[in-house]
Amino acid sequence: MLRNNKAEPLECQDDFNGHLVAITGATSGIGYVTAREYASHGANLLVINRNEEKTLNLCEEINRDFGVECDFMLADFTHISEVKKVGEELANSDLNIDVFIHNAGVYLTERTISDDSLEMVFQVDHLGSFIINYILKDKLKAQQKCRIILVNSEGHRFAILGLKLDDLNWEKRRYSGLKSYGSAKTAQLLTMIKFNDFFQNSGVTINAMHPGNVKTTMGENSTGLFQRVFIEPSYRSPMISAKSLYYLGVSKDIEGVSGKFFNLTYEEEPAPPVLDREVAKKMWDLSIKLGRLA
Ligand SMILES: NC(=O)c1ccc[n+]([C@@H]2O[C@H](COP(=O)([O-])OP(=O)(O)OC[C@H]3O[C@@H](n4cnc5c(N)ncnc54)[C@H](OP(=O)(O)O)[C@@H]3O)[C@@H](O)[C@H]2O)c1
Repeated sequence: MLRNNKAEPLECQDDFNGHLVAITGATSGIGYVTAREYASHGANLLVINRNEEKTLNLCEEINRDFGVECDFMLADFTHISEVKKVGEELANSDLNIDVFIHNAGVYLTERTISDDSLEMVFQVDHLGSFIINYILKDKLKAQQKCRIILVNSEGHRFAILGLKLDDLNWEKRRYSGLKSYGSAKTAQLLTMIKFNDFFQNSGVTINAMHPGNVKTTMGENSTGLFQRVFIEPSYRSPMISAKSLYYLGVSKDIEGVSGKFFNLTYEEEPAPPVLDREVAKKMWDLSIKLGRLA
C-alpha cells in the first residue's frame, strides 16, 4: 500500500471519442478533474451531481473547452428517493454507458443522520452507488459492456474489525470519522463481490480504486487525525486520480479485469474484512432493504 501510494500511475494515451462516461460528484475535486480528463480524450459526459449551479457551469466549461457533450442529472445522495430516480431514469433510457465512475463521497467528523434515518457517510459513500448499480444492473448486463469503477479508499482499512452490521447508524458506539468512513468504504467493497458475481462473463466489469491521497475539499472539515495522519503528509495532485481513472476506464490492459481493488492503477489486496463472502451477502441484503429496493 505505501509503495503504491507513492507510485506514478500507469497512463493510457488512447482516445475515447464518442464514448459515454457517467461520473457522480463531478463538481469538485477528483470528479471534476476526471470529467475534464475524459472530455479531453473526446468522451461525452453524463455528470450526476447535487448542485445545479455548479453543474451548469461545469457542463458549459466542458462543452466550451473540449466540444463534447455534457449532460447532467441532479441528485442529492442524502435522499434515497433522488438517487433512485436517477437510477430509474437511466435504466429506462436508451443510453449506452461505457464507463460509470461512482465518485461522490463525503467525510464527516460528527455523526449525522439523514432524513432517511441513516448515517450520512454510509448513505452517501456506499448506499448511493449501490442503489444506482442495483437498479441499473440488468440494463448494463444487456448492454454487454461497461466498466463500473467505484472510487473507494485505502481508508477502508480504518474499519479494522470490519462492519458492525447491527449498528450501521453508530447508536451503540462512539462515532469516529475515520471508522465511519472506513465502514462505508468497506460496505461498498463487500457489495462489489456480489455485483461482480452478477456480471460474470457479461462484458460488464466492476472494480474499486483508491484515487491517491490528493488535495481536494474532502476532509476539510477535519482538523484532527484524518487530516494530519492520512491526508496532509502525502498530498498529491488530483491529476494522478484522473489519469488513473482514465487508465482503469479505457486501457486495454484492464479489459475483462473485474472484482479487483486498485491503488491508483496498481492491483492490491484489500483488507481481509472486505473479502468475507458471508458478510458480503448480509451487506447486500441490508443494502437492498435500506435502499428500499425490494
Ligand atoms: N481526496 C482524497 O485524498 C481521497 C482519498 C481516498 C478516497 N477519496 C474518495 O474520492 C471521492 C471524491 O472525493 P474528493 O476528494 O474529490 O472530494 P470532494 O472534492 O469533496 O468532492 C466530492 C464530490 O462529491 C459530491 N458530493 C458530496 N456529497 C454529496 C451528496 N450528498 N450528494 C451528491 N454529491 C455529493 C460533491 O459535490 P459538491 O461539489 O456539491 O460538494 C463533490 O462533487 C470520494 O468518494 C472520496 O471518498 C478521496
